[in-house]
Amino acid sequence: MPDSALELANVVKTYGEGSVSIPVLKEISATVATGERIALLGKSGSGKSTLLNLLGGLDRTTSGSISVFGSRLDEFTSRQMAQYRLETVGIIFQGYNLLSMKTARENVELPLIFGGFSARDRRAAAVKALDAVGLCDRLDHKPTELSGGEQQRVAIARALVNQPKLLLADEPTGNLDSSTADEVIEVLSAYVSEHATTVVLVTHDDDLAERFSDRILRIQDGQFQDNLSVAASTEADNGEVAP
Ligand SMILES: Nc1ncnc2c1ncn2[C@@H]1O[C@H](COP(=O)(O)OP(=O)(O)OP(=O)(O)O)[C@@H](O)[C@H]1O
Ligand SMILES: [Mg+2]
Repeated sequence: MPDSALELANVVKTYGEGSVSIPVLKEISATVATGERIALLGKSGSGKSTLLNLLGGLDRTTSGSISVFGSRLDEFTSRQMAQYRLETVGIIFQGYNLLSMKTARENVELPLIFGGFSARDRRAAAVKALDAVGLCDRLDHKPTELSGGEQQRVAIARALVNQPKLLLADEPTGNLDSSTADEVIEVLSAYVSEHATTVVLVTHDDDLAERFSDRILRIQDGQFQDNLSVAASTEADNGEVAP
């Protein structure tokens, strides 16, 4: 297995065309090691979800290359991309994105439906994932019958049900109070530590970024502002002179 989980080289993402084109990512490059936990910080509209969509195989770069575990995502056919989404990556979306008419277990089974698993295997995998996030007693609850933190944990279980090597989490605690957010992060941390999952976590929360990640990447004006380790960025923050 290659050493690096992610290699981004001169990644450009521009939405629209001509006079209405919006350049969001402007030649960004980065390398992420296997098992590394990255926190992605940046102002609203800076391109965090855009980058996650590219890494998750939900959208394609305008130019530049993205390698994930040694495979060039930008060269995948749509069929290979679908396979990649099914086997390699798990995504916790901004907002929960749960289907309201389905139970917790059915929501968690969804990513497996296209994978040719039997109903019995899907069910077993969903129960295992819900158990991992502490919800084995809420299998048949629908989203409206669950608290915000519980819904978020269902969304986490859905992202983990295929045991992804790469987990992409877009503001997984954005809608939660701080103690519920702490619980959710604990559940997530326990899982990724146990499985040595590579993680890119988007957050607005500097504190969470420092607690959870090995390294912080900040997007500003379409580029990574710096590439600091958590320790170095803490030092830099402490050394900052108040204006
Ligand atoms: N499909 C799209 N078409 C056109 N513009 C888009 C599209 N998706 C996003 N954008 C624009 O790209 C920019 C980056 O959006 P993105 O969703 O990546 O921001 P973000 O950093 O995730 O913000 P937030 O913190 O608010 O979630 C925004 O200006 C947005 O309006
Ligand atoms: Mg976003």
